[in-house]
Amino acid sequence: MDKVRVGIIGCGNICKKAYVPGLRKCEAVELVACADLDAAKAKALAAEMSIPKVYDSPDALIAADDIDIVVNLTVPQAHAPVNLKILAAGKHAYTEKPFAVTRDEASAVLKAAAKRGLLTGSAPDTVLGGGIQTCRKLIEDGAIGKPIGATAFMLCHGHESWHPDPEFYYAKGGGPMLDMGPYYITALVTLLGPAVEVAAMTKKSFATRTITSAPKSGKVITVETETHHAGTIRFANDAVVSMVMSFDVWKHNLPRIEIYGTDGTLSVPDPNTFGGPVKLFKPGADPKTAQWEEIPLTHAANSRGIGVADMAMAIRNKRAVRASGEIGAHVLDIMLSFEEASKAKKTLTLKSKCSQPKAMPAGLAEGVVND
Ligand SMILES: NC(=O)c1ccc[n+]([C@@H]2O[C@H](COP(=O)([O-])OP(=O)(O)OC[C@H]3O[C@@H](n4cnc5c(N)ncnc54)[C@H](O)[C@@H]3O)[C@@H](O)[C@H]2O)c1
Repeated sequence: MDKVRVGIIGCGNICKKAYVPGLRKCEAVELVACADLDAAKAKALAAEMSIPKVYDSPDALIAADDIDIVVNLTVPQAHAPVNLKILAAGKHAYTEKPFAVTRDEASAVLKAAAKRGLLTGSAPDTVLGGGIQTCRKLIEDGAIGKPIGATAFMLCHGHESWHPDPEFYYAKGGGPMLDMGPYYITALVTLLGPAVEVAAMTKKSFATRTITSAPKSGKVITVETETHHAGTIRFANDAVVSMVMSFDVWKHNLPRIEIYGTDGTLSVPDPNTFGGPVKLFKPGADPKTAQWEEIPLTHAANSRGIGVADMAMAIRNKRAVRASGEIGAHVLDIMLSFEEASKAKKTLTLKSKCSQPKAMPAGLAEGVVND
C-alpha cells in the first residue's frame, strides 16, 4: 500500500531529536519535506537528516500538492494558527502538544477540520506506547477492579538549564501544566476516559528565571505564567485524581502516576516515555505480605511519530484518530481549568467532552498500527 506522505513544519529540538527518527520507524508514513520560519534551520536539518525536500517557508510546504499530513512542531503559540493554515489548504494536521493555548483556538481548529472532512491529531502519542497501553489492558481486564482514583505528579525546576531556547516555557501558553500536563492528563484520559470537574490552586513562585544553558546563558526571562499547579480532577467514571505540576521544585520522592482500584493498585510508567515499567499490586490473601509485581509489556514500546502513523491508518481506513484533536482540546480544557478554578476559588464543571480512544491491539511490531 502507498505510504501516507508527511511534511514537518518546525525544525527545532523535538523535530531532530524525536520526530525524524521516530517517523522513519513507522511503516505507514514517509517523511517527504520540512520547513521552518527560519529557512536556514530547515535547510540545515534537511541536509543533516536527508529529508528529500526543503521549502523556503511554512506556507510553501502547506501549499505543496504531494503532502497528505502536515506535522506541526512549532512552539505552542503557533500551533493553532499553523494548524488552521494546514487545514485551509486541504491537508490533515497533526500537532505537538498542547493542541492550542486557548479554548477558542482549539474549537476553531476542530471546526475547520470538520467543515473540510479532514483529521486533526495532537501529541502526546506516548499514550500509544507499550507502557500506557499495557496499563490500559490491565484496567480493562479487571486487574485492579473498579478505578477509585489516581495520583499524577510532575515536579521539576523548569527547562532553562538544558533547552537552547527556553523562553517559551515561561510565556503565555507555557508553564508546567501546558508543557507537561498533556502527557499526564492524556494518559489519565486514555486509562480512565473523559473528565468532568476540576478544583485547583495555582501560583508563580519565581518572577524571573535565568537561563544557564548554551547559547543564551545569563539571559533573564520574565515569568508570565503560573508555575506551580495543585488540584483535583473528577473523571466521568467517578475516579478522583490528585495532581501537582510544577516548575518550582528542586527534588521530590513522588510517583508519576498511580491508579487505585477496588482490587489493587497500578503503578504507571513515566507518561513522557513509551515503555515501562508497569507494576501491579494485588492484595491477595494477605495484603501485608503481598508485593508489587512487574508486568511484561503486552504492546511494542514505539516512539514519537506513532500517533502520525495512526492518523495515516485512520485516513486509509476512514476511522477515528487515536491521538486526536478532540482529546487534545479536552485535555486543554482540563489544564486551563486549573488556573481558572484557582482564581474563581471554586470547582469548575468542564464543558468539553471526548471519547476514550480505542485501545491499541496487543502484539503489533514496533512502528506498526493496523486498526
Ligand atoms: N524539546 C522537547 O523535548 C519537546 C518534547 C516534547 C514536545 N515538545 C513540543 O514540541 C514543540 C516544539 O518544541 P521544540 O523544543 O522543538 O522547540 P524549538 O524552539 O526547538 O523549535 C521550534 C521550531 O519552530 C519554529 N517556529 C516557531 N514558530 C513557527 C511558525 N509560526 N511557523 C513555522 N515555524 C515556526 C522555530 O523557528 C523553531 O525552529 C513545542 O510545542 C514543545 O512543547 C518539545
